[in-house]
Amino acid sequence: MELPHIVSAKDFTRAQLDALFERAGTVKKQLSNKGRWAEERYVVEQTFYGLLTRQTMALLFDQPSLRTSSSFETAMYALGGNCVTYRNASRESSIAKDESLEDTIEMLSGNPTVSVIVLRHPEVGAAERAASVSSVPVINAGDGLEHPTQALVDLFTIQEALGSVEGKYITLVGDMHARTARSLLYALTLYPNVRVYLFCPRGLWLEENARQYLLDNNLIPTESEHGLLEDKAPSSDLLYVLRPQKENWHKDIKNQELRRRNIEKSVEHYYRFFTVDNRILAHMPKNSIVLHPRPRGPELPTEVDSDPRVLHKVQGRNGGPVRIALLEMMHSGEWKKLANK
Ligand code: NCD
Repeated sequence: MELPHIVSAKDFTRAQLDALFERAGTVKKQLSNKGRWAEERYVVEQTFYGLLTRQTMALLFDQPSLRTSSSFETAMYALGGNCVTYRNASRESSIAKDESLEDTIEMLSGNPTVSVIVLRHPEVGAAERAASVSSVPVINAGDGLEHPTQALVDLFTIQEALGSVEGKYITLVGDMHARTARSLLYALTLYPNVRVYLFCPRGLWLEENARQYLLDNNLIPTESEHGLLEDKAPSSDLLYVLRPQKENWHKDIKNQELRRRNIEKSVEHYYRFFTVDNRILAHMPKNSIVLHPRPRGPELPTEVDSDPRVLHKVQGRNGGPVRIALLEMMHSGEWKKLANK
């Protein structure tokens, strides 16, 4: 029996996304109907509460996280299940004693009360490795290359705000080595007539194999390190702003002081040309939106937050309903059923 792992956005089908977003929209309405402590809200929640009673989600996080980990945990609790969480897995699980990722996953998934594993890990291919030895579904909550559930949250937010994803002009701004960018781009290949423009600093281009995947799937990105963002803004339906992933920069420089100075210089250039502030927003159409997977820094200054087109907070909050809907669909078998459609 093949398990409904969520490893890469390349595996998504359009039928899965359409069904997920419809369900997530309903869940979102149910959750926002009443005040947080209101008794009525508790009644409304009965519509999905209890589905995963006595089931446990094991979260193994080996990198920092706020939005992803908390929305998976609260989604599991909202469905009536439990969580066991390792937040600094390389220090607090037996990985600290050199237990391999494979042995760790095999052990956790072998526990008869664990029904799903959520993994965040810095290495390329970690989710795939975990899925290959797990006896329960593994969800990739961010590994070396991908962050597929963030792409689900992003696409849900785009569809909710713009009515559809198809035919939209999407500009990604900044560091294309971000795993959130890669997963979003892969998932965008499922939507016809999307145009993508990548505006990124030299050296932070999308890698060749990722680019090739897009070309093979009829998404032809235009890329530039030149020009000005304000020239691209007027034709964009969406600006997707990315954080400089500076922890990964200039890794080839061994001298720490030299590396620090190089990073500092690159960051300065980044904030100068790849920041979306009120000046850029002034060039954007009325019905456009701005998203950011967060955490954000000066590349999306707080001055933009009062503009109704800037939706990164809504996007962050959509993580809950989308992950509740995803767990429901994985549990009911619908996710798997729609895998080949
Ligand atoms: C991102 C991540 O960890 O990949 N955060 C998230 O989960 N939304 C973004 C980042 O760190 O740049």
